[in-house]
Amino acid sequence: MHPAAKRSSQATIDIFQKYVIPNYTRYPISLVHGEGSYIWDAEGNRYLDLFPGWGCNILGYAPPRLVKRIQEQVTHLIHVPNSWYTEAQGDFAEALCSRSFGKAFFCNSGTEANEGAIKLARLHGHAKGRYKIISFENSFHGRTYAAVTATAQPKYHEGIGPLLPGFNYAPLNDLDAVRKLVDKETCAIIIEPVQGEGGVNIPDVNFLAALKKIAHENDMLLIFDEVQTGMARLGTWFGYQQWHVQPDILTMAKGLAGGVPCGAIIATHEVAPSMKPGKHASTFGGNPLAMAAGLATVETIIEDRILENVATQSARFLEHFLKLKQELPIIKEVRVRGMMIGVDLNIPGTPAVAKCMQRGVLINCTHETVIRLLPALNITTAQVLEGITVVSDVLREMSKAP
Ligand SMILES: Cc1ncc(COP(=O)(O)O)c(C=O)c1O
Repeated sequence: MHPAAKRSSQATIDIFQKYVIPNYTRYPISLVHGEGSYIWDAEGNRYLDLFPGWGCNILGYAPPRLVKRIQEQVTHLIHVPNSWYTEAQGDFAEALCSRSFGKAFFCNSGTEANEGAIKLARLHGHAKGRYKIISFENSFHGRTYAAVTATAQPKYHEGIGPLLPGFNYAPLNDLDAVRKLVDKETCAIIIEPVQGEGGVNIPDVNFLAALKKIAHENDMLLIFDEVQTGMARLGTWFGYQQWHVQPDILTMAKGLAGGVPCGAIIATHEVAPSMKPGKHASTFGGNPLAMAAGLATVETIIEDRILENVATQSARFLEHFLKLKQELPIIKEVRVRGMMIGVDLNIPGTPAVAKCMQRGVLINCTHETVIRLLPALNITTAQVLEGITVVSDVLREMSKAP
């Protein structure tokens, strides 16, 4: 048993079976402790996590500055409502907007940020009768109704209709399709700068700039869903900075507060005033605990030179997997941008997850064939080498299977 464990994994699984709604497919392991890129289960087994917190734990587990700041903050204020000012919310808004643009609104998750962004775009377009939104096939924007409607994947829509009216979908990289969907009632285009859940799909080099042009020529807003790509994931503070295409609205969550639940919308000075008092709110949004964690995350990114580490380790992953692609015909394509890593196979990728786990490495597989890694941004060279050795051995083994 790990010293942090109260009971075995199986004993916890038994409690879940009795009391927790079974809407997730879970691995049969109860996790009890983490440090950096390593995590331990109740039985004391250690794993190298190349997908920590589904992309939320950008500084790994228990990053010291974050732990300290959270501990300090809880002794003063955990939560106060947004009918008051707090230093922490002002400071975190300044930290984000001074590195991007505009003004911030805080919430608690990615779907909530996108829900708010869609409302803001509609509020902004309301006087002109604009309410329609264009999004992209294989996108993922969240599970609440506006966000899941924007998520252009039929599997997420089955059984929950009717969906929200006014959403239209275009294939990624298809500008003609986008132009055809635009009409006088369209208020915004929403897109992930790199599609995450959809399979680490990187848009064509000029696609985002062209979308901005279409949006602005037609009096529409461009929304970037940076829930996954924001907060240094791609090697710049925000993903849009990679393409030098600033959106009108930016949404973030996941790593924003280093793993503490936190979401945000950033809107330009022109758009932000459309969110007037009473039009949108979030009870827990911008709470001092999440804001302190967010500030500690920003400070750690600066002080630990995280952007540099993303560039170094990203290049290492890319070089390695491109080499492996030469060796293994089961690898169809390697897609890497910063610390978003996708290895697209021409065979099902799911078995790789369990095989890596047996060898002590945690990875993800999305869209049936894409091995997806979202490592902590402070992962070390030794950990990268440890991880790619295991993933490569597993892929070699899978390529030999009849
Ligand atoms: C790009 C993107 N948008 C939105 C979401 C939804 O975020 P959350 O699960 O915090 O609601 C996700 C989650 O994976 C995401 O990757």
